[in-house]
Amino acid sequence: MSDPGDADASLVATATARLTATSSLDTLVEVEAELLGKRSTLAAAQKALGGLEPEQRREAGLRLQTVRKQIEAIVAERRAALEQTARADRLAADRFDLTEVLASEVPWRGHLHLVQRTRDELEDVFVGMGFAVAEGPEVETDWYNFEALNMPPAHPARGMWDTLYLNLGEPETVVLRTHTSPVQIRLMQTQAPPIYAVMPGRCYRRDTPDARHIPTFNQIEGLVIDRGISFADLAGTIETFTTAYFGPDTHSRLRPSYFPFTEPSAEYEITCTICGGDGCRTCSHTGWIELGGCGMVDPAVFAAVGLDDEQWSGFAFGFGIDRCAQMRHEIPDMRVLLENDVRLLRQI
Ligand code: PHE
Repeated sequence: MSDPGDADASLVATATARLTATSSLDTLVEVEAELLGKRSTLAAAQKALGGLEPEQRREAGLRLQTVRKQIEAIVAERRAALEQTARADRLAADRFDLTEVLASEVPWRGHLHLVQRTRDELEDVFVGMGFAVAEGPEVETDWYNFEALNMPPAHPARGMWDTLYLNLGEPETVVLRTHTSPVQIRLMQTQAPPIYAVMPGRCYRRDTPDARHIPTFNQIEGLVIDRGISFADLAGTIETFTTAYFGPDTHSRLRPSYFPFTEPSAEYEITCTICGGDGCRTCSHTGWIELGGCGMVDPAVFAAVGLDDEQWSGFAFGFGIDRCAQMRHEIPDMRVLLENDVRLLRQI
């Protein structure tokens, strides 16, 4: 009869060889079941102990128990090793390798949004003409947005702006400014004339978006207050700005209009750059695009800020920055300026 010690040693040796050969946690579980499970040779031998004499049973039982312990220890060791490999593999797969991006493609550098660049350029043009740049709040009181601009409560002209009200203070006393004109008032309150200033900023209207309108847009307001300012100064300023910004091929025209805070008032239009004036969907087939409004500062506005209209006169204008960007870059639909689609942003 062979030596039971040899048999144990070879059982452990076979088990070790099989366990070392496992390459994944799944196969380890299978091999563990084969070596130690109910159907294993070891389990069968342990079961057979029952048929032995008590003395032999004790001795053989101890021996088999030792073998089982040894195999279990090797399983545990192998499991730890495989778990570590699996973890390392997982980490390697999860790693975000930025150098790969670098190697394959030069990364895209971000840039300022077209509307911001347009605003900067417009400021530059006006600064070049001798204007200062000022700013005011986007959340305004009814007084600045309407009343000081010669629109008392319930004035029908308020209907020209579809206003968004804020739930602050008394109902309908705080608005998201519908234009940059309230900044004129703030400027005249804080600064003695002469004033030559432009005031760019974001405005809000409860408008349904279409090719030429977006509910959040940007305007640039202009204000000149000095002695002996005339409508000719206004027209000349508008004309100088138009050619400086759009180039000599774009023409402008002023058409009679109405604003409560200017008298006389005019609409400021330029040739539609999308169709060159022939008429298209963007300009509603008129060949002209309205950029904004302008006019001579109304005496009622001077009264609201306590300036003497016998001494001072002036003009104001306000037009859309987004509209300028749309015309200069021939963007048929203004809504794309708000969508932040990266395919467009890359182009402009
Ligand atoms: N605030 C006017 C608007 O938003 C434009 C304007 C500004 C008109 C200044 C006259 C003078 O429509």
